[in-house]
Amino acid sequence: MITTELTDWSLRMPRFVRFGGGVVDDLAEHLALIDQGEVCLMTDEGVVGAGLTAPGEKIVTVAGFALDVIEGVQAQPSIAGVQGAVDRVRQRGSVAIVAVGGGSVVDAAKITALLGSNDGSVSDVVEWFGRGFVNERPMRPSLPLFTVPTMVSGADVVSAAVVTDPGAHTKFACWSLHMMPRATFFDPANTTTAPKDHLLDAALDSFTHALEGLTARTASPITRNLAIDAAAQIFRSLPVLYADATDRRAREDLCLGCLEAGLVVGNTRAAAIHGLSYPVSSTFPISHGRCNILLAPTVVRYNGVAAEQEYADLADALGLVRGVEAPAEALATAITKLTWGLGLPATLAEVGVTSQHIPELVIAAQRNRWFFDEVNPRPVPEESVGQLYAEALAGV
Ligand SMILES: [Fe+2]
Repeated sequence: MITTELTDWSLRMPRFVRFGGGVVDDLAEHLALIDQGEVCLMTDEGVVGAGLTAPGEKIVTVAGFALDVIEGVQAQPSIAGVQGAVDRVRQRGSVAIVAVGGGSVVDAAKITALLGSNDGSVSDVVEWFGRGFVNERPMRPSLPLFTVPTMVSGADVVSAAVVTDPGAHTKFACWSLHMMPRATFFDPANTTTAPKDHLLDAALDSFTHALEGLTARTASPITRNLAIDAAAQIFRSLPVLYADATDRRAREDLCLGCLEAGLVVGNTRAAAIHGLSYPVSSTFPISHGRCNILLAPTVVRYNGVAAEQEYADLADALGLVRGVEAPAEALATAITKLTWGLGLPATLAEVGVTSQHIPELVIAAQRNRWFFDEVNPRPVPEESVGQLYAEALAGV
C-alpha cells in the first residue's frame, strides 16, 4: 500500500475581533447578550491615568450594569496578585470582566474570568494548564471576558495566560481553551498613550512570537503565512513608529502585525527563545520583549539547519539581501541590526549575566522543557541550553 504522509494541524481562533477607530463603542451590543449584574473592569494605573478606561466604564454603566474597578493589576502579574483579583470577583459575584490594558492586564483577567466561575486557585491553574496544550479538563465556561487592548501584546487572541512565580524565578504560560476572550475591540489609537518603552517591548515580544511560530513544529500552513506577514509588518513599522510616534500608518501596521503574531503564538506556542528568556527576565533587570530579541539571533543561528526554507521565506519577505549567506545568518544579522538601531542591549553580558549564572539559568530553563521539546524545530538538550546562554553572553 502506498502511503503519503500528510500534515495535521489544529487552529485556535478568537471568537470575535473588531479592529479600527472607535470600535470600543461596539462593546455595548456584546454586553447586551449577557445577564445583568456587576461587571468587573480590570486595568492598571497607567491606563487609568491615560483616560482609557473612561469609555469602557461609561458603556458598562449605560448598559445598566453595576461596575467594580480593579485598577491595580501589576505588570507581569504574579500568582499571588492574580489570586487577589480572583478573590474579589468571587466575593462580589461579578457576572463579566472587561479588561482594558496590555498583556499583563489581559492575562490576569483571563485567569480571573476562569476562576470566577470555577473552583480552584491560581496555583491550581498553573498546575493544571502550565504544561502546554495537553491538559484540558472539564470546567465551567469562564465569566464572559471582553478586552480593550491598549498595547500590542496580542494576548487578546490567545487562549493562554502567563503568570510569574517569583519564588521559582520563572513564569508559566497556562494554556486552556477556556481562556479565550469572548470579544476584543482593538482601536490602534488606544496604543498612543502607552509608554514608548512598553510599546517597544510588546512589539519586540510579538516579533519573536512570529519568528518562533514560523519554524515551530506545531505550525500549520495558516500560521506560517500569518507569521511571515506578522514579522514583516512589525520589522518594517517598528523603527518608523519608534522614530515618529505620530505616524498613524506605521501604528496601524504595527498593531496588525502584533495581532497576527498573537494568532500565531496562540496556535504554535513559543519555542527556544522564550524557553531561554523566561529565566533571564525573571531574574535580571531586562523586560520580556527586550530579552527575547536579545536571544533571537543566537537561537535563529542554532535553528538554521532545521528551518532553512522557513527562514529563507522570511528573509525574502523582509527584503534581506542574502548573497551566499545562509538565510538564518542573514536573519540573525538583521535582527541584531534592528536591536542596535533601537539602542537596546544585544548581549546577556550587558544586562549583568556572567558565566557563573549560566548553571542556575539552565536549571530554571528545564522547568519549561516544552518550549524546547515540543515546539522548537531543532531539539535543544540540556547541554545545548547552556551552550546557547554562553553564546548569547557575548553575542556575535
Ligand atoms: Fe512572549
